Amino acid sequence: MAPLVWLVTGCSSGFGNQFVHSILARGDRVVATARDLSKIQHLNQLGVPTFQLDITDSQAFINATISKVLAEYGRIDVLINNAAYIAIGTWEDLSYEDWLAQFDTNVFGTIKVTKALLPHFRERKKGTMVFISSLSGWIGHAGCSAYAGSKFALEGIVEGLHAETAHLGLKTLLIEPGRFRTNLLSSSSMKSRPSDIPEYAERSRAQMEGLAGEDQNQPGDPVKLVEIVLDLVRGEGVAQGMEVPFRLPLGVDCYTDVKEKCEATLATLETWKNVTRSTDIETQK
Ligand SMILES: NC(=O)c1ccc[n+]([C@@H]2O[C@H](COP(=O)([O-])OP(=O)(O)OC[C@H]3O[C@@H](n4cnc5c(N)ncnc54)[C@H](OP(=O)(O)O)[C@@H]3O)[C@@H](O)[C@H]2O)c1
Repeated sequence: MAPLVWLVTGCSSGFGNQFVHSILARGDRVVATARDLSKIQHLNQLGVPTFQLDITDSQAFINATISKVLAEYGRIDVLINNAAYIAIGTWEDLSYEDWLAQFDTNVFGTIKVTKALLPHFRERKKGTMVFISSLSGWIGHAGCSAYAGSKFALEGIVEGLHAETAHLGLKTLLIEPGRFRTNLLSSSSMKSRPSDIPEYAERSRAQMEGLAGEDQNQPGDPVKLVEIVLDLVRGEGVAQGMEVPFRLPLGVDCYTDVKEKCEATLATLETWKNVTRSTDIETQK
Protein backbone atom coordinates (compact mmCIF):
# COMPACT_ATOMS: atom_id res chain seq x y z
CA MET A 1 0.00 0.00 0.00
CA ALA A 2 1.36 3.45 -0.95
CA PRO A 3 2.05 5.67 2.08
CA LEU A 4 -0.92 7.84 3.03
CA VAL A 5 -0.60 11.53 3.90
CA TRP A 6 -2.51 12.44 7.08
CA LEU A 7 -3.38 15.83 8.56
CA VAL A 8 -4.19 15.87 12.27
CA THR A 9 -5.61 18.74 14.34
CA GLY A 10 -4.69 19.26 18.00
CA CYS A 11 -1.33 17.43 17.96
CA SER A 12 0.06 19.09 21.10
CA SER A 13 -1.22 16.37 23.43
CA GLY A 14 -3.37 13.29 23.96
CA PHE A 15 -4.72 11.40 20.95
CA GLY A 16 -3.36 14.03 18.52
CA ASN A 17 0.20 13.57 19.68
CA GLN A 18 -0.20 9.79 19.61
CA PHE A 19 -1.59 9.90 16.07
CA VAL A 20 1.61 11.55 14.86
CA HIS A 21 3.83 8.83 16.33
CA SER A 22 1.63 5.90 15.30
CA ILE A 23 1.21 7.22 11.74
CA LEU A 24 4.98 7.53 11.36
CA ALA A 25 5.46 4.02 12.77
CA ARG A 26 3.20 2.63 10.01
CA GLY A 27 5.38 4.27 7.35
CA ASP A 28 2.83 6.95 6.43
CA ARG A 29 3.40 10.71 6.32
CA VAL A 30 1.75 13.19 8.67
CA VAL A 31 1.24 16.93 8.76
CA ALA A 32 0.91 17.91 12.42
CA THR A 33 -1.06 20.99 13.44
CA ALA A 34 -1.66 22.79 16.72
CA ARG A 35 -2.90 26.19 17.78
CA ASP A 36 0.38 26.79 19.62
CA LEU A 37 3.15 25.87 17.17
CA SER A 38 5.82 25.90 19.89
CA LYS A 39 4.18 22.81 21.45
CA ILE A 40 4.78 20.65 18.35
CA GLN A 41 7.90 22.09 16.76
CA HIS A 42 10.00 19.29 18.28
CA LEU A 43 8.23 16.99 15.78
CA ASN A 44 10.24 18.63 12.97
CA GLN A 45 13.20 16.57 14.21
CA LEU A 46 11.23 13.46 13.22
CA GLY A 47 10.71 14.90 9.75
CA VAL A 48 7.13 15.91 10.54
CA PRO A 49 5.99 19.20 8.98
CA THR A 50 4.15 21.37 11.50
CA PHE A 51 1.58 24.09 10.92
CA GLN A 52 -0.11 26.54 13.26
CA LEU A 53 -3.84 25.84 13.11
CA ASP A 54 -6.35 27.11 15.64
CA ILE A 55 -9.62 25.59 14.51
CA THR A 56 -11.51 28.62 15.83
CA ASP A 57 -9.73 30.83 13.28
CA SER A 58 -11.75 32.23 10.39
CA GLN A 59 -12.72 30.03 7.45
CA ALA A 60 -10.50 32.21 5.22
CA PHE A 61 -7.47 31.71 7.48
CA ILE A 62 -8.04 27.96 7.73
CA ASN A 63 -8.54 27.70 3.95
CA ALA A 64 -5.23 29.54 3.44
CA THR A 65 -3.42 27.19 5.84
CA ILE A 66 -4.80 24.10 4.11
CA SER A 67 -3.88 25.57 0.69
CA LYS A 68 -0.33 26.10 1.97
CA VAL A 69 -0.17 22.47 3.17
CA LEU A 70 -1.46 21.20 -0.17
CA ALA A 71 0.95 23.41 -2.12
CA GLU A 72 3.89 22.06 -0.12
CA TYR A 73 2.87 18.41 0.27
CA GLY A 74 0.73 17.77 -2.81
CA ARG A 75 -2.14 15.92 -1.21
CA ILE A 76 -3.94 14.90 1.95
CA ASP A 77 -5.44 11.41 2.08
CA VAL A 78 -6.75 11.38 5.64
CA LEU A 79 -8.03 14.18 7.86
CA ILE A 80 -8.22 13.53 11.60
CA ASN A 81 -10.55 16.03 13.25
CA ASN A 82 -9.27 15.60 16.77
CA ALA A 83 -8.95 19.04 18.43
CA ALA A 84 -11.55 19.82 21.09
CA TYR A 85 -11.93 20.59 24.77
CA ILE A 86 -14.45 19.88 27.47
CA ALA A 87 -16.50 22.53 29.28
CA ILE A 88 -17.92 21.49 32.63
CA GLY A 89 -20.74 23.29 34.43
CA THR A 90 -24.50 23.32 34.77
CA TRP A 91 -26.77 25.08 32.28
CA GLU A 92 -27.15 27.92 34.77
CA ASP A 93 -23.47 28.26 35.57
CA LEU A 94 -22.18 28.25 32.00
CA SER A 95 -22.59 31.64 30.37
CA TYR A 96 -23.94 32.00 26.85
CA GLU A 97 -20.34 32.80 25.83
CA ASP A 98 -19.17 29.53 27.43
CA TRP A 99 -21.70 27.60 25.33
CA LEU A 100 -20.70 29.48 22.18
CA ALA A 101 -17.01 28.83 22.82
CA GLN A 102 -17.66 25.09 23.34
CA PHE A 103 -19.54 24.81 20.06
CA ASP A 104 -17.14 27.19 18.28
CA THR A 105 -14.27 24.77 18.87
CA ASN A 106 -15.86 21.32 18.90
CA VAL A 107 -18.45 21.88 16.16
CA PHE A 108 -17.75 24.96 14.05
CA GLY A 109 -13.96 24.53 14.15
CA THR A 110 -14.35 20.97 12.94
CA ILE A 111 -16.75 22.12 10.20
CA LYS A 112 -14.28 24.77 9.02
CA VAL A 113 -11.28 22.42 8.78
CA THR A 114 -13.36 19.79 6.99
CA LYS A 115 -14.84 22.35 4.58
CA ALA A 116 -11.32 23.54 3.78
CA LEU A 117 -10.36 20.03 2.66
CA LEU A 118 -13.61 18.86 1.07
CA PRO A 119 -12.97 20.36 -2.40
CA HIS A 120 -9.58 18.58 -2.48
CA PHE A 121 -11.19 15.26 -1.54
CA ARG A 122 -14.10 15.78 -3.95
CA GLU A 123 -11.80 16.59 -6.88
CA ARG A 124 -9.64 13.54 -6.19
CA LYS A 125 -12.72 11.34 -5.50
CA LYS A 126 -10.68 10.09 -2.60
CA GLY A 127 -10.17 10.91 1.04
CA THR A 128 -11.01 9.74 4.54
CA MET A 129 -12.46 12.11 7.12
CA VAL A 130 -12.15 10.89 10.70
CA PHE A 131 -14.02 12.67 13.48
CA ILE A 132 -13.22 12.08 17.14
CA SER A 133 -16.62 12.18 18.79
CA SER A 134 -17.26 10.75 22.27
CA LEU A 135 -19.40 8.65 24.54
CA SER A 136 -20.80 12.14 25.20
CA GLY A 137 -22.14 11.98 21.64
CA TRP A 138 -24.55 9.33 22.98
CA ILE A 139 -25.24 10.39 26.53
CA GLY A 140 -25.67 13.77 28.21
CA HIS A 141 -24.37 13.68 31.76
CA ALA A 142 -25.13 16.29 34.45
CA GLY A 143 -22.70 19.20 34.29
CA CYS A 144 -21.56 18.06 30.87
CA SER A 145 -24.40 19.34 28.68
CA ALA A 146 -22.38 21.76 26.58
CA TYR A 147 -19.74 19.16 25.72
CA ALA A 148 -22.40 16.49 25.08
CA GLY A 149 -24.35 18.95 22.95
CA SER A 150 -21.26 19.63 20.85
CA LYS A 151 -20.59 15.92 20.36
CA PHE A 152 -24.28 15.11 19.63
CA ALA A 153 -24.12 17.91 17.03
CA LEU A 154 -21.00 16.36 15.55
CA GLU A 155 -22.75 12.99 15.28
CA GLY A 156 -25.63 14.51 13.29
CA ILE A 157 -23.63 16.73 10.98
CA VAL A 158 -21.12 13.97 10.23
CA GLU A 159 -23.91 11.49 9.51
CA GLY A 160 -25.23 14.00 6.95
CA LEU A 161 -21.75 14.51 5.50
CA HIS A 162 -21.37 10.75 5.13
CA ALA A 163 -24.72 10.53 3.33
CA GLU A 164 -23.85 13.33 0.91
CA THR A 165 -20.26 12.35 0.06
CA ALA A 166 -20.16 8.54 0.10
CA HIS A 167 -21.17 8.42 -3.61
CA LEU A 168 -18.05 10.49 -4.39
CA GLY A 169 -15.86 7.77 -2.97
CA LEU A 170 -15.13 9.66 0.25
CA LYS A 171 -14.99 7.78 3.53
CA THR A 172 -16.23 9.10 6.85
CA LEU A 173 -15.52 7.62 10.24
CA LEU A 174 -16.92 8.64 13.63
CA ILE A 175 -14.86 7.41 16.57
CA GLU A 176 -16.54 7.46 19.97
CA PRO A 177 -14.03 7.09 22.82
CA GLY A 178 -15.10 6.38 26.38
CA ARG A 179 -12.73 7.59 29.09
CA PHE A 180 -9.12 7.64 27.88
CA ARG A 181 -5.95 8.76 29.65
CA THR A 182 -5.13 12.03 27.86
CA ASN A 183 -5.01 15.63 29.09
CA LEU A 184 -8.71 16.25 28.39
CA LEU A 185 -9.55 16.48 32.10
CA SER A 186 -6.37 18.32 33.12
CA SER A 187 -6.77 21.76 34.66
CA SER A 188 -4.86 23.27 31.71
CA SER A 189 -7.30 21.84 29.18
CA MET A 190 -10.74 21.43 30.80
CA LYS A 191 -12.76 24.60 31.33
CA SER A 192 -14.92 24.24 34.41
CA ARG A 193 -17.36 26.50 36.20
CA PRO A 194 -17.95 25.21 39.73
CA SER A 195 -21.42 26.12 40.95
CA ASP A 196 -22.17 28.26 43.95
CA ILE A 197 -25.92 28.07 43.31
CA PRO A 198 -27.07 26.32 46.51
CA GLU A 199 -29.24 23.77 44.66
CA TYR A 200 -26.28 22.62 42.52
CA ALA A 201 -23.26 23.46 44.69
CA GLU A 202 -22.85 20.10 46.42
CA ARG A 203 -23.20 18.03 43.24
CA SER A 204 -20.92 20.41 41.39
CA ARG A 205 -18.22 20.14 44.08
CA ALA A 206 -18.47 16.34 43.97
CA GLN A 207 -18.23 16.39 40.18
CA MET A 208 -15.16 18.65 40.19
CA GLU A 209 -13.49 16.38 42.76
CA GLY A 210 -14.48 13.30 40.76
CA LEU A 211 -13.04 14.71 37.53
CA ALA A 212 -9.81 15.76 39.27
CA GLY A 213 -9.49 12.22 40.62
CA GLU A 214 -10.25 10.73 37.21
CA ASP A 215 -7.58 12.84 35.46
CA GLN A 216 -4.71 10.51 34.49
CA ASN A 217 -6.61 7.55 35.97
CA GLN A 218 -8.94 6.95 33.04
CA PRO A 219 -9.03 3.28 32.00
CA GLY A 220 -8.60 3.80 28.25
CA ASP A 221 -5.18 3.54 26.60
CA PRO A 222 -4.82 6.24 23.91
CA VAL A 223 -2.20 4.18 22.07
CA LYS A 224 -4.67 1.32 21.61
CA LEU A 225 -7.41 3.65 20.36
CA VAL A 226 -5.13 5.35 17.87
CA GLU A 227 -3.80 2.02 16.56
CA ILE A 228 -7.40 0.84 15.98
CA VAL A 229 -8.20 4.03 14.04
CA LEU A 230 -5.11 3.46 11.89
CA ASP A 231 -6.24 -0.12 11.27
CA LEU A 232 -9.71 1.10 10.25
CA VAL A 233 -8.36 3.72 7.85
CA ARG A 234 -5.71 1.44 6.35
CA GLY A 235 -7.92 -1.66 6.29
CA GLU A 236 -5.44 -3.77 8.24
CA GLY A 237 -5.08 -5.29 11.72
CA VAL A 238 -8.51 -5.43 13.39
CA ALA A 239 -10.09 -4.16 10.15
CA GLN A 240 -8.56 -6.84 7.96
CA GLY A 241 -11.37 -8.50 6.00
CA MET A 242 -14.03 -6.53 7.89
CA GLU A 243 -16.50 -3.97 6.64
CA VAL A 244 -15.46 -0.77 8.43
CA PRO A 245 -18.48 0.74 10.21
CA PHE A 246 -19.39 4.43 9.92
CA ARG A 247 -19.28 4.88 13.72
CA LEU A 248 -17.40 2.90 16.31
CA PRO A 249 -17.55 3.23 20.11
CA LEU A 250 -14.22 2.38 21.77
CA GLY A 251 -13.71 1.49 25.43
CA VAL A 252 -15.41 -0.92 27.84
CA ASP A 253 -17.39 1.97 29.37
CA CYS A 254 -18.54 3.09 25.94
CA TYR A 255 -19.63 -0.42 24.93
CA THR A 256 -21.65 -0.84 28.14
CA ASP A 257 -23.29 2.59 28.16
CA VAL A 258 -24.09 2.73 24.44
CA LYS A 259 -25.60 -0.77 24.54
CA GLU A 260 -27.72 0.17 27.55
CA LYS A 261 -28.98 3.29 25.78
CA CYS A 262 -29.77 1.37 22.59
CA GLU A 263 -31.66 -1.28 24.57
CA ALA A 264 -33.57 1.35 26.56
CA THR A 265 -34.47 3.16 23.32
CA LEU A 266 -35.68 -0.08 21.71
CA ALA A 267 -37.72 -0.86 24.84
CA THR A 268 -39.36 2.60 24.71
CA LEU A 269 -40.12 2.14 21.01
CA GLU A 270 -41.79 -1.20 21.69
CA THR A 271 -43.71 -0.10 24.82
CA TRP A 272 -44.98 3.08 23.17
CA LYS A 273 -45.29 1.66 19.66
CA ASN A 274 -49.04 2.25 19.38
CA VAL A 275 -48.74 5.84 20.56
CA THR A 276 -45.66 6.56 18.45
CA ARG A 277 -47.39 5.19 15.34
CA SER A 278 -50.71 6.93 16.01
CA THR A 279 -49.91 10.44 14.79
CA ASP A 280 -50.38 10.35 11.00
CA ILE A 281 -53.25 12.36 9.49
CA GLU A 282 -56.27 10.04 9.00
CA THR A 283 -56.96 9.48 5.31
CA GLN A 284 -60.62 9.57 4.25
CA LYS A 285 -61.78 6.20 2.90
N1 LIG B 1 -9.70 11.49 26.45
C1 LIG B 1 -10.95 11.11 26.51
O1 LIG B 1 -11.39 10.45 27.47
C2 LIG B 1 -11.87 11.45 25.39
C3 LIG B 1 -13.13 10.85 25.39
C4 LIG B 1 -14.01 11.14 24.36
C5 LIG B 1 -13.61 11.99 23.35
N2 LIG B 1 -12.38 12.57 23.38
C6 LIG B 1 -12.02 13.48 22.28
O2 LIG B 1 -10.71 13.22 21.85
C7 LIG B 1 -10.19 14.38 21.18
C8 LIG B 1 -8.79 14.68 21.65
O3 LIG B 1 -8.81 15.01 23.02
P1 LIG B 1 -7.77 14.38 24.04
O4 LIG B 1 -8.52 13.43 24.88
O5 LIG B 1 -6.56 13.93 23.33
O6 LIG B 1 -7.49 15.65 24.98
P2 LIG B 1 -6.23 16.61 25.10
O7 LIG B 1 -5.05 15.82 25.52
O8 LIG B 1 -6.70 17.73 25.96
O9 LIG B 1 -5.99 17.13 23.62
C9 LIG B 1 -6.85 18.08 23.03
C10 LIG B 1 -6.11 18.75 21.90
O10 LIG B 1 -7.00 19.66 21.25
C11 LIG B 1 -6.29 20.88 21.09
N3 LIG B 1 -7.19 22.02 20.93
C12 LIG B 1 -8.15 22.48 21.77
N4 LIG B 1 -8.72 23.57 21.24
C13 LIG B 1 -8.12 23.80 20.04
C14 LIG B 1 -8.28 24.75 19.02
N5 LIG B 1 -9.16 25.76 19.13
N6 LIG B 1 -7.51 24.66 17.90
C15 LIG B 1 -6.61 23.67 17.78
N7 LIG B 1 -6.39 22.74 18.73
C16 LIG B 1 -7.14 22.81 19.84
C17 LIG B 1 -5.43 20.99 22.32
O11 LIG B 1 -4.43 21.98 22.13
P3 LIG B 1 -3.76 22.83 23.34
O12 LIG B 1 -2.59 22.01 23.83
O13 LIG B 1 -3.33 24.09 22.67
O14 LIG B 1 -4.80 23.03 24.39
C18 LIG B 1 -4.92 19.56 22.39
O15 LIG B 1 -3.87 19.39 21.48
C19 LIG B 1 -11.21 15.48 21.47
O16 LIG B 1 -12.06 15.62 20.34
C20 LIG B 1 -12.00 14.95 22.64
O17 LIG B 1 -13.30 15.50 22.71
C21 LIG B 1 -11.50 12.32 24.38
